[in-house]
Amino acid sequence: MANRFQAPPLEISSVLHGGYHHPLARKWQNHGRNLTKEMFMYPIFISDDPDAEQVIESLPGQKRWGINKLESFIGPLVKKGLKSVILFGVPMDMEKDERGSPADDPETPVIKALQLLSAKFPLLYLACDVCLCEYTSHGHCGIFAKLPPPNHTSMPTLDAEASQQRIAEVALAYAKAGAHCVAPSDMMDGRIKAIKLALMQNDYGNRVTLMSYSAKFASSLYGPFREAAGSAPSMGNRKCYQLPPNARGLARRAIKRDATEGADILMVKPALPYLDIVSDCAQLEPDYPTAVYQVSGEYAMVVAGAEKGIYDLKAMAFETCESFVRAGASIILSYFTPQFLDWLDEELTE
Ligand code: PBG
Ligand code: ZN
Repeated sequence: MANRFQAPPLEISSVLHGGYHHPLARKWQNHGRNLTKEMFMYPIFISDDPDAEQVIESLPGQKRWGINKLESFIGPLVKKGLKSVILFGVPMDMEKDERGSPADDPETPVIKALQLLSAKFPLLYLACDVCLCEYTSHGHCGIFAKLPPPNHTSMPTLDAEASQQRIAEVALAYAKAGAHCVAPSDMMDGRIKAIKLALMQNDYGNRVTLMSYSAKFASSLYGPFREAAGSAPSMGNRKCYQLPPNARGLARRAIKRDATEGADILMVKPALPYLDIVSDCAQLEPDYPTAVYQVSGEYAMVVAGAEKGIYDLKAMAFETCESFVRAGASIILSYFTPQFLDWLDEELTE
């Protein structure tokens, strides 16, 4: 019996395949926004044990590094094209207190690391995370207010002014130790302005970049990091200062606020579940670079899926990072950075 359906001839505008059959032609479909080595910033954990090279169980392939091990760890990566790192301090032995005193102790691991790295690798861009949670006895990112907690929670509120002041002090100490960029991740109100003013008043305003974790959500994806950095809160959670995951409007307000308060780079974090916010950030503030943080849980998720055979690791890592760039990011903080330094040198594949 004859077919009862005759396919209509293809319209010219329907024929797309020809434009991306060749691997190079596929590359050209990115509107000039290629993934490059320059986009990657590598998060590194610095231990106060100077000889540490300690495997982090929850973050496959990542370690806590002691100051004595840094040069031999970073050197080969710089040779492969590593352009920037962001440092996180892990004070294992230092005495923590309510105000996070070890954060800017002259002996604190990130200050030592900034001094060492800026001397050994003068062209490597050194960002430093600024937060109190790794250094406070309670594990929260700010300083508690005196008021007793309200009835709906057992967690004290944070004192915005005292927190800002303290965080600005810490940021200034990192600038003095050689950070090219200070990156406050605490989400306290007003801290961008406080840090900018502290930098300006001490002659660092014109040489240190202020990268704000502007839209940082209260995510389930920070678990491995908190284990790596020993920064899990001892009680309560961070929902009263990090953004609720459903809050697109708040995220847009926080992005606009931080731009107004003096941030030089705006960040969205985590990355993959928040691509709409990445796109919002790039569109709301097109005159600022948008950064994304592919956080510890996202990294661990991509690695775990590959280990389960759900996908190929490299293909999935590319797919996630290309989605960030497509959404508008030009800086990617990622634990995959060392692998991308190799992958980006590889030939196009079929
Ligand atoms: C500390 C901080 C966190 C991350 C970066 N800085 C954890 C948190 O807010 O609890 C998360 C990074 C990651 O998960 O890779 N304020
Ligand atoms: Zn914190």
